[in-house]
Amino acid sequence: MNIVVGVTGGIAAYKSVHLVRLLIKAGHEVTVIPTEDALRFVGQPTWEAISRNTVTTSVHDDVAQVRHVALGQATELVIVAPATANTIAKMAAGLAADLLGTTLLATTAPVAIAPAMHTEMWQHPATQANIATLRERGVHVLGPGDGELTGGDSGPGRMLEPEQIVDAALALLMPQDLEGVRVVVSAGGTREPIDPVRFLGNRSSGRQGVALAAEAADRGADVELVAANIAADVLAAAGHPRIRVRSVQTAAELGEAMRDAAASADVVIMAAAVADYRPTEAAEHKLTKESGTLERIELVQNEDIVAGLAQSASEKQLIVAFAAETLTDPDARRERARRKRERKGVDLLAVNLADAEHGFERADNAVEIIGTGGAVVASVAGSKREVAREIWNAVQNVRA
Ligand code: CTP
Repeated sequence: MNIVVGVTGGIAAYKSVHLVRLLIKAGHEVTVIPTEDALRFVGQPTWEAISRNTVTTSVHDDVAQVRHVALGQATELVIVAPATANTIAKMAAGLAADLLGTTLLATTAPVAIAPAMHTEMWQHPATQANIATLRERGVHVLGPGDGELTGGDSGPGRMLEPEQIVDAALALLMPQDLEGVRVVVSAGGTREPIDPVRFLGNRSSGRQGVALAAEAADRGADVELVAANIAADVLAAAGHPRIRVRSVQTAAELGEAMRDAAASADVVIMAAAVADYRPTEAAEHKLTKESGTLERIELVQNEDIVAGLAQSASEKQLIVAFAAETLTDPDARRERARRKRERKGVDLLAVNLADAEHGFERADNAVEIIGTGGAVVASVAGSKREVAREIWNAVQNVRA
C-alpha cells in the first residue's frame, strides 16, 4: 500500500522513525513528508534511509512532477505523527504553505493524526475546536495517550506508541464485515494451583488469541476477551475500544466466564490452552520434601469447556476450537484433528504443530482449519495476526 507519513515538529518525531520502519517491514511503500520544523528533531537523511524514498518539505522541489498533487492522489492512507497543535490548527484552516499541507488538501485517502503536545495545549479551546473540525471532516484522531510528557510533566497529550498508531491507522482500511457481530475469544493458558506457590500450567502465551480478538475488533466486532494468565505486553495488543477483557486463572474460572459471555455471543473462539486435569485440592500451605507431600499429586479431570459450549450452542452460534498437536506427520495430525472436531462438536477446528520450533511462545504460526465433514477449509502460515485473519475469513464463510 502507498502510505504518506507526515511528521511535524515535536519531540515525538523520533518515535515516528520506528513507525515508518514498522510500515516498511509490513511491506508498505512509504513517503515521509516532514515539516521544516520536524527536521530540527530528526534530519532528512534519517527519513530517506528509513523510508527508502526521497524526502522534501517544499512544493518547490520536483516541480515538474507536481509532487504535492501526485502524492496526494497516489496515497491510500495518510498518517500525521506527531501532529503538533500548530499543524492541527493549520489543517483545520486548510493552510497549504508546505508539501505536507498541500498533500493533505490534495488527497481523498483516509487521514489519521496522532496528536502530541503538552496537556495545556491539548486542552486549550482552540485546539479542541480544531480537533472537532477535523473530526467532522472525517479525520481520524488517534489518541493522544495519557502519560509522561517532555520536561517531566504527565497527563493527556502523549503521542500513542508507534505500534498502536500503525494498528489503528491500518484498521481504517479494513473491511467492517464483522460489524455488529458479538464475539468471545479465550486466550492464554490456565494455571491450576497445587499449593500457594506452585501451579500446573502450560506454555501458551496468549498471542494467537489476542491476535484473534484484535483482528475481530478491527473488522467491527464487539469482543469479549477471556484472558488466562497473559503477560501485560502481550495483552497490550488487545487495547481496543471494542475489546473487553476478563481475566481468569483456572480452568473452572475460564469455564464460568466463557459460559457467561457465550450466552449472548454470535461466535465463540476457544484459543486458550486449558489444563485437562487439576490437583484434587490446592494445599493451603506449601508442600514440602520433608513432609513427603510433593511426591504424588492427585489429579481430577477438568470439564471440557468447548464441548459443553458446543452442546448448548444455539442454531446460529458458531464455535471454533484449537488443537496444538505434536504429531509431525501432517496426515496423522490432520486425522487426529478431524476426530477432535467431531468429538467436541465444534464447527471449525484450527490445528497447528506445537514443538520447540513451532506454535507456543512464538510470533509466527501455521494452522490448518478443519470444517464440516473433516474438510480442510483453509491452510495458512504467517504471523499470528495473518493466521487470525484467515480464521475469521473461514468463520465468515461458514456464516455466509
Ligand atoms: N479445551 C476445553 N476444555 C478443556 C480442554 C480443552 O475447552 N478442558 C479446548 C481448548 O481450548 C481447545 C480444544 O479444546 O480449543 C482442544 O484442546 P486440546 O487440549 O487439544 O483437547 P483435548 O480434548 O484436551 O485433547 P487431548 O486429549 O489431545 O489433550
